[in-house]
Amino acid sequence: MISLSDLQNFPKEFKFGVATSSYQIEGNNYGDCGKSIWDDFAKRKLSGIDGKNACNHIEYFIEDIKLIKEAGFKAYRFSFAWPRLFPDNDKDVNLKGVDFYKRLLDEINNSDLEAFPTIYHWDLPLRFQEMKGWENQETCKRFGDLSFFISKTFGDQFENISTINEPWCISWLSHYLGEHAPGIKNIQSAAKTMHNILFAHSQSVEALRSCNTHQIGVVLNNQFGQSIDSNEENIHATKLFDEIHNRWFSDAIFKGKYPELALSILEKYLPENYKTQLELISSPIDWIGLNYYTRSLIKYKKSEDGVNYECNSGTLKKTDMGWEFYPEGLSYFIKRIHKEYDNKIPIYITENGMANNDKPTFKGDVYDEDRIEYFNLHLKEILSCLNEGFSIKGYFAWSLLDNYEWAYGYSKRFGLVYVDFDNFKRIPKKSYYEFSKYLA
Ligand code: FCB
Repeated sequence: MISLSDLQNFPKEFKFGVATSSYQIEGNNYGDCGKSIWDDFAKRKLSGIDGKNACNHIEYFIEDIKLIKEAGFKAYRFSFAWPRLFPDNDKDVNLKGVDFYKRLLDEINNSDLEAFPTIYHWDLPLRFQEMKGWENQETCKRFGDLSFFISKTFGDQFENISTINEPWCISWLSHYLGEHAPGIKNIQSAAKTMHNILFAHSQSVEALRSCNTHQIGVVLNNQFGQSIDSNEENIHATKLFDEIHNRWFSDAIFKGKYPELALSILEKYLPENYKTQLELISSPIDWIGLNYYTRSLIKYKKSEDGVNYECNSGTLKKTDMGWEFYPEGLSYFIKRIHKEYDNKIPIYITENGMANNDKPTFKGDVYDEDRIEYFNLHLKEILSCLNEGFSIKGYFAWSLLDNYEWAYGYSKRFGLVYVDFDNFKRIPKKSYYEFSKYLA
């Protein structure tokens, strides 16, 4: 049977944690939270399956933090919900929202956990979409103000903070592929948001720096692109995939430029002053978060707009999302960050995990052996990078709880802890106990 005994071989100071995000767990029915683009998208595209209740973390957060602590984790990554802090406009703060995050952070700190808040994990207040959301740089500036507010209000309760979770999902997945809110399928919108979301990051970094207290990071999701075969056309298509999915963001942040192939397609849609803004975008950060799940097999496919590729999946073992197990990709990206971008920057693996079709047995236990295998394979990759001297500081399993998995609603379970969405009951799964065996 597969175990997580490798956990014993990590350095003492390496931080193991779990990750969640606001919209996916909190329940926006509670505490006077405002509407976000996800409420609207769910109504339009997901038959109304939304985050109204989610895991009701607002009422269950003490129990949830206890679960994290009892498993022996040392860190907790969560996000602030912008519409909970500012439900109606940019000025009137919701005191219930402030109170919630203060109590949450107290609970985290009193449990000897380290808080890793993210400022933005996708729940943009709906009012911003009425003025074109991330297509409008006004939103980026308001995001800078939000970052300032968060730092001033909660800043003495944490050390590390990240600005944005997964810029690729916010831009390409949501504005070109249309799979996430706001569900736009348009290359102009996509190109603009590819740049603007990075500009928003820069506004946030500037605001946080002015408060002078934090270790600032950003969280990128890297997906390994592998050419479907050795055909030149497919290899070229794979390069474009990699540039759009991965390098666009890391080149901008670490090098202050955009990769050439992707730029040749997208430049015409970018704001005129994009190069000046790239200087801001590349101002130094203190750590980088890497979210990693899987690979794609890339094949050339002609498209009018020049985005000439399609993504396929191969024949490796798959998760319930249909995502292949491809742990090698994780060490590939860890090494790439250090070798090609910044050989000193501390890396945190801020998300990694799998969806599994978990069901409690009649006794109420949840056996998620495949998830243990998935974690084990990825942890081995990290260990081998550590042994080669790469500076990786921590690992956050996605996710603490089964939760609202965006466009898939409640049908995909990523948790270490099973959630019964009818009554919010939490049942730790076997993978949870496997972590606690070695961490607690
Ligand atoms: C990531 C998201 C996270 C979750 C996982 C499965 O892209 O950051 O919220 O949905 O995928």
